[in-house]
Amino acid sequence: MSENKEIDAVSGTSTTGHEWDGIKELNTPLPRWWLLTFYACIIWAIGYWVVYPAWPTVSGYTTGILHYSSRANVAVDLADLEKIRGEKMVALASAPIVDIEKDPALLALARARGKAAFGDNCAPCHGTGAAGAKGFPNLNDDDWLWGGKLEQVLQTIQHGVRSGDPKAHEGAMLAFGQQGILKPAEIVTVANYVRSLSGLPTAAGYDKAAGAKIFADNCAACHGADGKGNQDLGAPNLTDKIWLYGGDEATIIETVTNGRGGVMPAWSARLDGATVKALAVYVHTLGGGQ
Ligand code: HEC
Ligand code: HEC
Repeated sequence: MSENKEIDAVSGTSTTGHEWDGIKELNTPLPRWWLLTFYACIIWAIGYWVVYPAWPTVSGYTTGILHYSSRANVAVDLADLEKIRGEKMVALASAPIVDIEKDPALLALARARGKAAFGDNCAPCHGTGAAGAKGFPNLNDDDWLWGGKLEQVLQTIQHGVRSGDPKAHEGAMLAFGQQGILKPAEIVTVANYVRSLSGLPTAAGYDKAAGAKIFADNCAACHGADGKGNQDLGAPNLTDKIWLYGGDEATIIETVTNGRGGVMPAWSARLDGATVKALAVYVHTLGGGQ
């Protein structure tokens, strides 16, 4: 074929020698700038293979003389972060809990850490904003079952309520109906008395004196003679219109008939000490801390 090469008369460029039905293929050379760029790229690529990871091998890849690895870089960054965090968490773990709220830097750290841990561990029961739900107390208000002082909040979080932990808060609302301590009619009467304690309307014809007597005989030991509750026993204040389970007649009857006994898990075995402290500070500073 090469013997058919010739110089094209029109363009002045040589032909390749290929010809189809009288049409000849020109052999136009690539522009010099293009060729030089192309060779430069090849040289660059070879240099890149030598320096950086490039080719897969049977069991891994060529690492290049720099041994660069983005995964190793992330590991180094994470280790640095853990070190910084670790130092701060040590400060949090070693500071006495009452001092944390006095130190603005520690307080900010505890609140941030507490907020994150609350979302992970507590929000399923107490709600994301800690506003609670039926049976799960609101932690924003200043109405406390077991006390709202920092040490009391810490104790509740560490050991829980009826959680099985040896130091947990114990004692619960009795099942007066189920255990036959009170008759259904007496339960209705005392339920109305409980409503009257917080100024709620009572059923027509309800006997207030009988209600007061049932309350004094059966309930005052835990809820107090005035119904204002007892934080040593976790017995709620029944006069403040704030309800854990509900203040309508039917719910109070259910509470007195079947008892309650909500369980708050113990956290000291599940979370590290610094996190539990941070949670106590977070809850305490939500608004209702005492
Ligand atoms: C499985 C559900 C559940 C989870 C999870 C839970 N709690 Fe509770 N918590 C309860 C219940 C129920 C009570 C009320 C117990 C009672 O009846 O006395 C309570 C009570 C409390 C109290 C006492 C409130 C008061 O008025 O004295 C605090 C403080 C508290 N929880 C904080 C937390 C924190 C912090 C977490 C996360 C580490 C958490 N809780 C996770 C169910 C839960
Ligand atoms: C042994 C102590 C004890 C006695 C006695 C007791 N309670 Fe309770 N009561 C509690 C505790 C603790 C709670 C908190 C709920 C729980 O058990 O989780 C509670 C809760 C309640 C609640 C729910 C309040 C709410 O906010 O929803 C009502 C209502 C109540 N008690 C009424 C009574 C009445 C009425 C009596 C007497 C017939 C009585 N209690 C006797 C300990 C007691």
